[in-house]
Amino acid sequence: MISLNFENLVSVTKKHGLSLAEIKKDSEKIPKLLEQIKKRNQGFYEILDDRETVKKIATFAKKIKGKYKSIVVLGIGGSALGTICLQQSLKHCFENELKNSKTRENTPKLYVLDNIDPQLISEIEDIIDYGKTLFIVVTKSGTTPETLSQYFYFRDKIRTKSSHKLNAHFVFITDRQKGRLRQIANEEKITTFEIPENVGGRFSVLTTVGLLPAALIGINIGKLIEGAKTMCKKFFSKNFTENLPYQIATIQYLLNKKGKTINVLMPYSQKLIRFADWYRQLLAESIGKKLNNKGKEIFAGITPINALGVTDQHSQLQLYSEGPNDKLIIFIEVGAYANKKFAKLEIPSAFMGKKITFHHLLQTEKNATVQALTQTNRPNITLKINQIDENTLGELFLLFEASIAFLGELFDINAYDQPGVELSKTLTKKYLAQN
Ligand code: PA5
Repeated sequence: MISLNFENLVSVTKKHGLSLAEIKKDSEKIPKLLEQIKKRNQGFYEILDDRETVKKIATFAKKIKGKYKSIVVLGIGGSALGTICLQQSLKHCFENELKNSKTRENTPKLYVLDNIDPQLISEIEDIIDYGKTLFIVVTKSGTTPETLSQYFYFRDKIRTKSSHKLNAHFVFITDRQKGRLRQIANEEKITTFEIPENVGGRFSVLTTVGLLPAALIGINIGKLIEGAKTMCKKFFSKNFTENLPYQIATIQYLLNKKGKTINVLMPYSQKLIRFADWYRQLLAESIGKKLNNKGKEIFAGITPINALGVTDQHSQLQLYSEGPNDKLIIFIEVGAYANKKFAKLEIPSAFMGKKITFHHLLQTEKNATVQALTQTNRPNITLKINQIDENTLGELFLLFEASIAFLGELFDINAYDQPGVELSKTLTKKYLAQN
């Protein structure tokens, strides 16, 4: 269950906040916006009905159980951020450091290499045993140079360091037909999972891109999908009160018009900092657009910042409360823990003269921060979730993807392309060919 509390937008001055009437004013347009969204033919919500893929992944996970000590995901952007988030949010904070593989439920260690920094590429070699490593190469286009360069590097390593065939060490996730990786898959007979054509990279966490690595480290992907489906119903509700994605999008849009050009996503939960990373890409790449749907230059965009409570109270909060009033702060509050022992973790009475729990200290600091920002007229909203588990994470993914879909329509832009990124990719190829 996720709920949204936006009463602090009403509490801050009219100049910086929003009245209830303002927030609800255009809600009769929800059906029209939903029509526009459907016309875009994007698959990020349709994939929730793809039971076949979930079954295929489960079968594969069963087949390779116990075979590998490490999984290394090679991918970047939307092909990596969802997986990093899934691991961080749903597994132990120090998952890879757990010595006993039993406490990791006999699942392999998972590493995601989403950079081509030679130090990163080289230092992973210090901790993996090639003979016991599975590489999952993820690229929707099948042409991304960062990912392909990594593939060719590790392919050569496997050839010299493992006695097994290449296809025992590689799995691909890519387009059904297009791209160089698909070609290699056919040549090398490598097991390959598909990314549906109409699901963009940053919307792909609930496709094979996120689901395969998640299943291999013991995450219940069925429940992730279930959670996303719950939110999907709200997404298609024509009723303002039910439609959480619309509520968030309309608040972001209206405040953007009032000069709140920056959105901070600040979960008060260590487990969700990578969720904020995932969202940073989704918001930046989807809404940052030069042209509107009619081809007119509008330079739309909301600058995302990811912050972590309470840690960033000692890093960013000064700026949020006294710097330019150009931000909407979106807090995420987690009510409880799946494992009750965390809620009970006590601080000895020497600290406060009475025993309190860390959970209470964290919530109190969150409440105090919210109040301090409200008192200084900084617009903020809070998303409350019961606890972090597969269901709620699925809900959260769909909530923010769907809110981006609404935002795209409100800004009158195409939220699903990334021409600015494409240009840099093309130029890199051109420069490499020249030198
Ligand atoms: O959201 C997007 O489309 C991008 O961030 C891509 O995920 C990123 O550029 C990687 O592309 P690909 O999966 O084709 O390698």
